[in-house]
Amino acid sequence: MSENSTRSVTVIGLGPMGQAMVRAFLAAGVEVTVWNRTAAKIDAMAELGARRAATVADALDANEVTVLSLTHYAAMYDVLGQAPDRLPGKTIVNLSSDSPARARAGAAWVREHGARFINGGVMSAGDVLDHPASYIFYSGPRADFDAVAELLRPLSPQEYLGEDDGLAQLYYQGLLTVFHPWLLAFEQAIALIANAGHDIDAFVGFAVRSNAAFPHFMESMSAADQQGGWADLASLKMMEAGARHVVEASEEAGVDATLSRTAQSFYRRAVAASEEAGKAVSAFELMRRGAA
Ligand SMILES: NC(=O)c1ccc[n+]([C@@H]2O[C@H](COP(=O)([O-])OP(=O)(O)OC[C@H]3O[C@@H](n4cnc5c(N)ncnc54)[C@H](OP(=O)(O)O)[C@@H]3O)[C@@H](O)[C@H]2O)c1
Repeated sequence: MSENSTRSVTVIGLGPMGQAMVRAFLAAGVEVTVWNRTAAKIDAMAELGARRAATVADALDANEVTVLSLTHYAAMYDVLGQAPDRLPGKTIVNLSSDSPARARAGAAWVREHGARFINGGVMSAGDVLDHPASYIFYSGPRADFDAVAELLRPLSPQEYLGEDDGLAQLYYQGLLTVFHPWLLAFEQAIALIANAGHDIDAFVGFAVRSNAAFPHFMESMSAADQQGGWADLASLKMMEAGARHVVEASEEAGVDATLSRTAQSFYRRAVAASEEAGKAVSAFELMRRGAA
């Protein structure tokens, strides 16, 4: 890469995340060319100093490296499929979310069309790329990642995981597996307090304080999971009863308890499986066996 080309990049996909990426690149002095399916979103980026590409072909031609920030991998085919003849020799960095299998298939498709491919999962606090907790998982060929790492550095700290094209999405989806129910459970807790007519601000401080114990549970549970999972019949029964109490407390306050019913059902199944097997069966083990 020439000196000039390492300081310029194309960004395709201007949702909240793509726009945050454009702003981060521009703030670092990187020249940015942008394209988006809905052209109106280009205007705000052009006002900040980004160059407009009229077509996907122009966007790919503008730089050696193109970053995709799209809703899913299906959108990548819709976009790059408009100008596949412009792919040879380029590097595509797809920072869109999807399953590991779709990321691997996408990597193969891009390489079949003559471009290098790196996949990433953006572990940001919302779209705040410069939040101290934000970072990005990357996977794909090491040499191809190294070739673009410096250019991509303005986005967020980098965590290169390995050559498996699905690895960034595996870790990303693994962490979102925790995030989505955590966020919804927090909303359920706030709804419980609100519907009961009590002060949300007074409660939240305790929620934050309780979170400090979560690393302890992650460490002890992951150690137990490597030995078959946390399974002790009395504890599983206690957890089933505890989840039932949350369901009852939520319903007393008129709050939707679907999440807590799901939690309760796992512990109930683990108790039943343990009694049937004559030895303790963990919820982790049930999950590894697949859908009930
Ligand atoms: N936003 C966040 O806080 C956040 C945080 C971490 C990770 N992420 C991930 O980053 C990616 C982008 O996030 P986002 O919030 O910007 O997503 P988004 O609002 O879904 O926007 C993504 C972009 O995808 C484009 N798009 C979708 N389908 C398309 C298609 N079939 N053909 C062409 N373009 C298509 C949209 O174009 P139009 O404008 O034309 O609709 C838009 O520019 C997602 O994979 C998301 O999971 C987001």
